[in-house]
Amino acid sequence: MELDFKTVLAPTDFSEASDKAIPFAFRLAKDHGAAVLLVHVVDALPMPSPLYAHYYAVPSPEQIVAIEKQSEEALRSRIPAEYRGTVRADVAVVHGEASQEILRLSVERHASVIVIATHGRTGLKHLLLGSVAEKVVRHATCPVFVVR
Ligand SMILES: Nc1ncnc2c1ncn2[C@@H]1O[C@H](COP(=O)(O)OP(=O)(O)OP(=O)(O)O)[C@@H](O)[C@H]1O
Ligand SMILES: [Mg+2]
Repeated sequence: MELDFKTVLAPTDFSEASDKAIPFAFRLAKDHGAAVLLVHVVDALPMPSPLYAHYYAVPSPEQIVAIEKQSEEALRSRIPAEYRGTVRADVAVVHGEASQEILRLSVERHASVIVIATHGRTGLKHLLLGSVAEKVVRHATCPVFVVR
């Protein structure tokens, strides 16, 4: 396991709960001379059966580009002011199933640690962990820092 602290991966679904974890990601990165990779996963569309595919509004290529641009800007806006210029921050917008993409990026970008919140946008608050957080904790190959 890579013990050198280089990249802190911080996924957010842009919910309030999710954003609470971001300052921890930056603080960790600053203390260890690491960079932060802020990640948003655009949820994959359900794969409709060809029988009723025409009922689904599939976004046009232009709409997809617009979603990506907005998400990138939203990620950049979450870089805390106090760390701008002192901690290197990259952003990544990807498409797919959130936990799978977070895990895939953590390997691809050699994340030293993933900083994730227990809950996000859609979850039942009485559950210990949301489903994305649970799968990330279960399957990550690097340590996971979970923020309640
Ligand atoms: N689409 C996403 N892109 C990036 N990070 C995400 C995404 N969805 C969830 N996460 C990360 O996982 C954390 C926990 O969210 P999770 O989705 O597990 O909980 P939830 O939305 O409350 O419950 P559930 O999705 O299971 O109904 C979020 O705070 C965020 O850090
Ligand atoms: Mg969720």
